[in-house]
Amino acid sequence: MDKQAITNLLKKMSTKEKIYQLVQLAGGFYSEDEAVVTGPKEKLGISDEAIANVGSILNVRGAEETRALQKNYLAKSDAKIPLLFMADIINGYDTIFPIPLGQGATWNPELIKAAAAVAAEEAAVSGIHVTFSPMVDLVRDPRWGRVMESTGEDTYLNSVYAQSFVEGYQGEMIVGKNVAACVKHFAAYGAPEGGREYNTVDMSERNMREYYLPAYQAALKAGAKMVMTSFNTVDGIPATGNKWLNQDVLRKEWGFEGILISDYAAIKELEDHGIAEDAEQAAKLALEASVDIDMMTSVYAKNLEKIVVKDSEMAKLLDQSVLRILELKNELGLFENPYRGADTEKAKAVILSKDNRKLARKVVSESLVLLKNQEVLPLKSTQKIALIGPYATSPFLSGSWSFSLKTERTVTLEQAFSEVLPAENLLVAPGCLTVEPELIEASFGQYFPAEKTLFDEEGELVKALEAARKSDVVVMAIGEHYLQSGEGGSRGELTLPRVQQKLISAIKALGKPMVGVVFSGRPLELKAELPLFDSLLTVWFPGTEGGHGIADVVFGKVNPSGKLSMSFPYSVGQVPVHYNEFNTGRPLTESGHSKRFTSRYTDMPNKPLFPFGFGLSYTTFSYCDFKLSETQLVPGDKITATVEVTNSGKIAGTETVQLYIRDLVGSIVRPVKELKGFQKIFLQPKETRKVSFEITEEMLRFYTRELTYQSESGEFTVFIGSNSEVAKGINFILCK
Ligand code: GLC
Repeated sequence: MDKQAITNLLKKMSTKEKIYQLVQLAGGFYSEDEAVVTGPKEKLGISDEAIANVGSILNVRGAEETRALQKNYLAKSDAKIPLLFMADIINGYDTIFPIPLGQGATWNPELIKAAAAVAAEEAAVSGIHVTFSPMVDLVRDPRWGRVMESTGEDTYLNSVYAQSFVEGYQGEMIVGKNVAACVKHFAAYGAPEGGREYNTVDMSERNMREYYLPAYQAALKAGAKMVMTSFNTVDGIPATGNKWLNQDVLRKEWGFEGILISDYAAIKELEDHGIAEDAEQAAKLALEASVDIDMMTSVYAKNLEKIVVKDSEMAKLLDQSVLRILELKNELGLFENPYRGADTEKAKAVILSKDNRKLARKVVSESLVLLKNQEVLPLKSTQKIALIGPYATSPFLSGSWSFSLKTERTVTLEQAFSEVLPAENLLVAPGCLTVEPELIEASFGQYFPAEKTLFDEEGELVKALEAARKSDVVVMAIGEHYLQSGEGGSRGELTLPRVQQKLISAIKALGKPMVGVVFSGRPLELKAELPLFDSLLTVWFPGTEGGHGIADVVFGKVNPSGKLSMSFPYSVGQVPVHYNEFNTGRPLTESGHSKRFTSRYTDMPNKPLFPFGFGLSYTTFSYCDFKLSETQLVPGDKITATVEVTNSGKIAGTETVQLYIRDLVGSIVRPVKELKGFQKIFLQPKETRKVSFEITEEMLRFYTRELTYQSESGEFTVFIGSNSEVAKGINFILCK
């Protein structure tokens, strides 16, 4: 329809029809099973009329399911305005890719864009119109369970990935190929106090603008069509009711004209926050804060009518919200084709195709980070290998956001190893449960049926020891349970489950070479395990092709190239620990004070166990001849930083060369380093490549003392290296 037709449609709609467009419900409300409907309906206290006329549906998947729901809805609804179908396609639809924190470790934006495009196509043919992704929340606290959904601790890197995800999902918005992206969670959800889920976020506007907001801006610059609010407070006001954040920053300052959707029940939660006395005030606050869709509550449905009939300004806001929703539906062509893209036959051809699996396998192998290797990896198929630990056989490799827990599709480590090794060279024994049995009941309850089966702990330990004794090398497949991360998955401790620590010690006592393959949704605290393993790989939750991707690296088909996008703490006591910290007035080194009176711990180092940007290879890379083209930079000009990188080892490999800059003095304190660029290069043995970076004045801008975004004259240090602990720098002066 043309714009005028949309405006005419809006004029024809009754107030109730307008309000219902602002309501989003999950598929359960449209189930044939009356019991399923009455449960949620009672809980929400929402009317049949509202249910029959909502504007969008949450997390219904499948071409048949979405087509049927759309058909029934259009038959029954009053205004006959097609539904939007939205879902959480976080790291893949049915072909599940590594969790975003793993994708972040690839430092390969083009690859991540390709993975997002696959996820979009599988979703589009399944009738999804919008994905609630990318999640671009910056994270510095691995206690928070949702670090698994983030691409990490760096603003620049997260902004690069935000663009990749959005461009991959949306492409040219082709029917059956692309879906609209909804960037979330606006804003700064990744900084809850104590790393505790849904907890208070409180930081200066400067800190928010400098570190937390740019990645949302990058997603919007890439064309993201929707934004989702976050659960947390921003300067004492919950994001979902925060006019400054949503009207002043998002709409006016950034010019965002698309849909702002609340997170799940977040409008109702304005009452729990204590910012709204009742649902009516919550509805008013959210609409004034430009929230266009109320996800999964009846607050808008039951309260907006009495608000808008007595307040013409609120009636205008209602019309603005309805118009945004109608415009997205129109842009997606739903008025002409309410079944956009949903195609059962195409879905059969596209979903989990060989090509999609091949891409997923590549993303896995590039996401793995080699943390330690004392000449044990890569393994050979002639070796007798004991594959021990709960992840030796577990199919739960996809993280907490993969709806398709059809685990038969997942390639396990055991399956992948059996494709490489002759049967007599592979001995498999889980050895223990993933987590302590009491944790299953306490923390996971109904979400965690899988391991409630009886497990013969003693017997399984004996089998594991037996397998290890017969082997040349032990590969221990260990890690946290997927429900120990993700939403609601905050942890106060970051260590491996105790049952696994016991198993590792028992196997270690046999004195065999040991490789650790660690599955997790976060940086874990691995200082106790580090000395026990000859080699250590962190593999995140690698998804459908997890077994294959890991085996490709373990057996040397792929030389690992992953680099951490989030620091691994030495201890949870250091958290938050991140590379781009401030120097403080009493830095541990270069301070004039005695060591005791410097910024340090008395019982542990300041540095993380593994820093941002860290990752080993099966070969080695040397850096030399680092230089700058100039020692002075004037605005409009550029300095070229060059370095020669050599593959000084015996096998080909890929290195991510990283550029960091430090602003030595500013009108506010500046980080000791900031990532400003990177290049991922492939080198044959003994090959040398000159790598160049251009440094411009724009790269040196920040939010100054006056909160203006600009650079300041002065001295800067440039670093180029293989991780954020690179020490050797060269200085230049910016002269404005
Ligand atoms: C959840 C999450 C959000 C998700 C939404 C819909 O609570 O916070 O990321 O998109 O609800 O499932």
